[in-house]
Amino acid sequence: MVYYIRFLKPPKVQDGKNGLVSVSTLISITTDLGDAFLAEDVSLHAQLLALDTNTVIQGKAVSWQAGKRELLVSIGPVRLSLTKQSIILAIGEKTVCVDELGDCTTTPLVISGCSAAFGGPQGTTAAKLVERRFALRSDSQLRIWEETGNNIARHIWDAALAAVICLRNTINNEAAGMQQLQNRIKNGGKKAVRAVELGAGCGIFGIALAQMLPRCAVTLTDLPEVDEIVSRNIQAARLAPGSALDFQVLDWDEKPSDDVFGEAVDLVLVSDCTYNADSLPALVRVLGYLTNVSPHALVLVSLKRRHESEAVFFELMQEASFAILEQTGVSLPAPYSETDSIEMYAFGRT
Ligand SMILES: C[S@@+](CC[C@H](N)C(=O)[O-])C[C@H]1O[C@@H](n2cnc3c(N)ncnc32)[C@H](O)[C@@H]1O
Repeated sequence: MVYYIRFLKPPKVQDGKNGLVSVSTLISITTDLGDAFLAEDVSLHAQLLALDTNTVIQGKAVSWQAGKRELLVSIGPVRLSLTKQSIILAIGEKTVCVDELGDCTTTPLVISGCSAAFGGPQGTTAAKLVERRFALRSDSQLRIWEETGNNIARHIWDAALAAVICLRNTINNEAAGMQQLQNRIKNGGKKAVRAVELGAGCGIFGIALAQMLPRCAVTLTDLPEVDEIVSRNIQAARLAPGSALDFQVLDWDEKPSDDVFGEAVDLVLVSDCTYNADSLPALVRVLGYLTNVSPHALVLVSLKRRHESEAVFFELMQEASFAILEQTGVSLPAPYSETDSIEMYAFGRT
C-alpha cells in the first residue's frame, strides 16, 4: 500500500519585507482511501520550482514523523517577483518529483505531489489540485491531476498504479507483462486498438495506455462528476503517435448509449471499481453489454482487495459467462519494507 502526499491546505505565498516572500502549505500523507496516515518516519524534499522551466528556486528537507496526521511545510524567505513569476511547490522523497512505477523496490512508498501553479497571474494561493508525475520511459512522463479533497472519483487509487505498471511491463515486452494483453496489442498491429475504460476517475489507466501504445483510441468513462478533472488530464496527455483519448459519461445504472456501445472494442479497462458490492451487478451488466457487441474483447481488471464482499464480483462474472484467461499480481511497497499485492485479471467471454 503506497501513501500519497496530500495538500490539506494548498500552497500560499506570504509577502515579507524587502521583496522577500515565504511559501507555506499544510500536508498529510495518507492511503488512497484516506483511512490511514503514514506510520513511518520519512525524509522529504520540498522545492519551489519555476513553472515554465521547472528549475529549482529554493528547496529544503522536511521530516514526516510516524504518529503525525499533518505537517506544516514552509519555505523562505525567498526573493520572488510575485506579480511576474508563476511557481509550483513539489514535495516528495527525492529531489526530482517524478516517481518510478516499477516493482516494489523502485516504486516509492510515498507518491510525490506537485501543486497547481501560483504566483504570477495565478494569484497567491494554488488551486486545490495535486499533480502526480510518473516516469513511463526515460523520455516520457505520465502526468495526472487529482483534486485535493476526499472525493472517491477525483483521485488516483493504488490499483490504477498497479495497472499502469502491468501495462508498461506488457508493452515493453517484459516477463512480468500479461500474455493475453500482449496478444491483443500485437493483433492490433495492423489495425488500431480501441479501448474503453469504466469508472476511469482521473483517467490514469486509460491515459497511460494511450501514451504508451501507438494507434490506440481510448474512451474514458465515468459519472459526470469527473468531467472537469479527466478533461484536464486528457488535455495534458502526451499521446503516442496515432493515438486518441476522449471522455464520455457512462453511468452503469443507466441505459447504455450508442456513443460508447455502438463500436466494437478490443480492450475494456477496469481499475479499483469492485470496492462497493452494491454496484457490482450494474458493473458486470455493463461489461456484458460491451462484450455482446465485442465478444472477443479482453476485460482487464485491476483489483485491490479491501473486504470479503468483493468476491461477489467473481461469482457475477462467472454467471455472466466471463472466464479468467490470465491472472497476475503487481507488488507495491508498503511501510516497514512490506509489500502489498494488487491482483490483475484478464477476462474473456466464454
Ligand atoms: C475507486 S474509484 C477508481 C477510479 C480509477 N479507476 C482509479 O483506479 O484511480 C471508482 C470509480 O468508479 C466510478 N463509479 C462508481 N459507480 C459508478 C457508476 N454507477 N457508474 C459509473 N462509474 C461509477 C466512480 O465514479 C469512481 O471514479
